Amino acid sequence: MNTKLDIQKIVCLGAGYVGGPTMAVMADKCKDIEFKVVDLSKDKISLWNSKDLTKLPIYEPGLNAIIKKVRGKNLFFSNNIEKAISQADMIFISVNTPTKTSGYGAGIASDLKWVESCARTIASFSSGHTIVVEKSTVPVKTAEVIQTILQSNQDRVDGKTFSILSNPEFLAEGTAVKDLENPDRVLIGGEDKYSIECLASIYRNWVEDKKIIKTNLWSSELSKLAANAFLAQRISSINAIGSICEVTGADVREVKLAIGYDQRIGKHFLETGPGFGGSCFKKDILNIIYLSKYYGLPEVAKYWEQVLSLNDWQVRRISKLVVDKLFGTISGKKIGILGFAFKANTNDTRESSAIQISKELLSEGANIIINDPKVNEKQIAKDLGKNPKSESKNNFEQGSWSLEEDFELIFKNSDAILILTDWEDYKNLNWDKYTKLMRKPSWIFDSRSVVNPKEIKDLGVKLWRIGDGTL
Ligand code: NAD
Ligand code: UGA
Repeated sequence: MNTKLDIQKIVCLGAGYVGGPTMAVMADKCKDIEFKVVDLSKDKISLWNSKDLTKLPIYEPGLNAIIKKVRGKNLFFSNNIEKAISQADMIFISVNTPTKTSGYGAGIASDLKWVESCARTIASFSSGHTIVVEKSTVPVKTAEVIQTILQSNQDRVDGKTFSILSNPEFLAEGTAVKDLENPDRVLIGGEDKYSIECLASIYRNWVEDKKIIKTNLWSSELSKLAANAFLAQRISSINAIGSICEVTGADVREVKLAIGYDQRIGKHFLETGPGFGGSCFKKDILNIIYLSKYYGLPEVAKYWEQVLSLNDWQVRRISKLVVDKLFGTISGKKIGILGFAFKANTNDTRESSAIQISKELLSEGANIIINDPKVNEKQIAKDLGKNPKSESKNNFEQGSWSLEEDFELIFKNSDAILILTDWEDYKNLNWDKYTKLMRKPSWIFDSRSVVNPKEIKDLGVKLWRIGDGTL
């Protein structure tokens, strides 16, 4: 049953990894509501409007098909933020909330300048009653900041009023469409029962009512941070156990299976890897650390700090062990890197372990050849702070990088291959054919449990596999 009350126009501020897919799925599920996704970036909006759907600004499996169905019908992308706001019944704030890089709380607190600027623009250009929905992940009590800005602009003469809800997003990149279409739960925090019902009724178009959880604003804001902190903590836990496996003769994949069968532990999120990346885990744990310190809970802060420090260690130990295994020097050696995105099925590289690891290999003088099915050269150059090797320079330049699609060129004369992202393509590589092209002794470093260890060893290639003490 469609009980969407009187919400006819929805606007989303922020056309990023959350705003774009979330509104696309909502538009697909709620055909009688008009959705407008707006952004400050002209380039991004023009990419969202590209005729060629392979040019969308983000790569997400299944997204192109949905965009094709709804764009221009009840989903629109635009830079006209003021006009969109003036017509909206409900506004989602889905802008970036990165860690502050300067000033008080630099390196730990969230930078809320984009959220605050959204609140001010909404206050200026909205009309009538507007339900403002906090979709971005924010520190607890951010709704109070938004509320204060909006309330001080309520206009009793024009009847401009607001209510605010928290509706954090739990999608993961690479599975965003699936997560949005079939969420484990939808969380709505707020006080105003009518607004909560308006938002719940929209989700009820495709989400079962029992999965729609209603809480107060602060529980909702904190639950989002807590969910990410718990997920990240599991990864640090399995990575810690993986390192013990490596020195004791155990295999982390067997340990994972054994502990995952315990229903209280569960089998998900126990993949060992080169450290978690992505734009959120680190930022959201830092947020909890900041809150804990602010509210005089130093022991709580220390507890979460350890999840991050284990992750930093995990990233760094990989580049170090590559150097160690290659006789302590990689200067002038050729190393192929398979995967630059922070996980498979996304073009996102934010906080990808590949960035730190590549930088360390480059600073040791290695020549690295990077492959990634979806990340482009411009993005890698930005992440590494260094341009790719120019065609004109000779092959002996040290500390250079290039992006390469052709596996033959990646493997040819390379001393080592380092797998950093678990793209499906890498699981199906013809290892027999490609490893023959490598320089001897040849090494495969598998940080994602991609290869079949027996196959690699039978080829006479040396193998390091994360969490594997049996090699
Ligand atoms: P993003 O950087 O991909 O997109 C944010 C967009 O907001 C940018 O395009 C930026 O130009 C735009 N923007 C900034 N200020 C604006 C303004 N005043 N008006 C209009 N547009 C503005 O970020 P994202 O990954 O989509 O994340 C957005 C929020 O969602 C963050 O708080 C993040 O923590 C949270 N989140 C992200 C994910 C994820 O998988 N990426 C999942 C759940 C929650
Ligand atoms: C994560 C959460 O899973 C989402 O629920 C949340 O909405 C989102 O953060 C957010 O708030 O931004 P995301 O970062 O997109 O989603 O991707 P994940 O699948 O969680 O992976 C994060 C990192 O952890 C990746 O580098 C991944 O390779 C790594 N990871 C994940 C592991 O090393 N092991 C695992 O078992 C799972």
